[in-house]
Amino acid sequence: MRVAVTNLTFGYDYRTVLKDVSFKVNSGDFLAIVGNNGSGKSTLIKCILGINKIPPKRITLDDVDITEFKNFKSIGYVPQKFDDFNYEFPITVNEILQVSRYNKVTEDEKLELLDKIGILELQNENINELSGGELQRVFIVRSLMNNPKLLILDEPTAGVDKANVEGFYKTVNELNKEGITIMLITHNINESKANFTHTLSIHNGEVVMKEVLRGDDE
Ligand SMILES: Nc1ncnc2c1ncn2[C@@H]1O[C@H](COP(=O)(O)OP(=O)(O)O)[C@@H](O)[C@H]1O
Ligand SMILES: [Mg+2]
Repeated sequence: MRVAVTNLTFGYDYRTVLKDVSFKVNSGDFLAIVGNNGSGKSTLIKCILGINKIPPKRITLDDVDITEFKNFKSIGYVPQKFDDFNYEFPITVNEILQVSRYNKVTEDEKLELLDKIGILELQNENINELSGGELQRVFIVRSLMNNPKLLILDEPTAGVDKANVEGFYKTVNELNKEGITIMLITHNINESKANFTHTLSIHNGEVVMKEVLRGDDE
């Protein structure tokens, strides 16, 4: 999926968080977004997800203005630390996947996805028993059930130990090679520079650096 952000300024109440942000993501890119805490990274991706409402002519998704865009199901989203989710009650991995099954994914396809993302053996586990990294993978499987063209991961490796970070990037890299466009927020740009095609650095709501690591454009 192509994403184009043009002169986006956005804030909550009276405070401006994003200031004149512009950048492009091409189909097949693997973009890493970096920046300090509070710099506006999560706010930016919530604009792209249609969660934060913005005026027309600021963001297009596959050349459709976001204010006209309908197909948000084609964007997979794994939120930061599951701030937006709270499962205080016991629920298994399978049940979570069941709840969010908009598309008619067959049982076999679901098992295939669990296997591919490396959590087939966790399907009957209570999600409260999972590590942060395992929970990330559950949410990746969940988003893959909608066959996304764009996968957005907000700090997926925060608090995940080094060995698991490597495994995680291997998985995400495979998804990218299969053609899924990836936008990934991270604190540590060096943890997987070999996988990223582009980086975008944000400081205090402003884009301070854009880097092309692989590929052709800009
Ligand atoms: N829903 C919200 N309402 C008001 N302020 C918010 C909201 N979400 C984030 N903020 C503020 O916007 C700023 C940027 O936050 P955020 O986008 O989460 O930064 P980052 O993801 O880079 O750490 C912070 O000062 C944060 O407190
Ligand atoms: Mg954030």
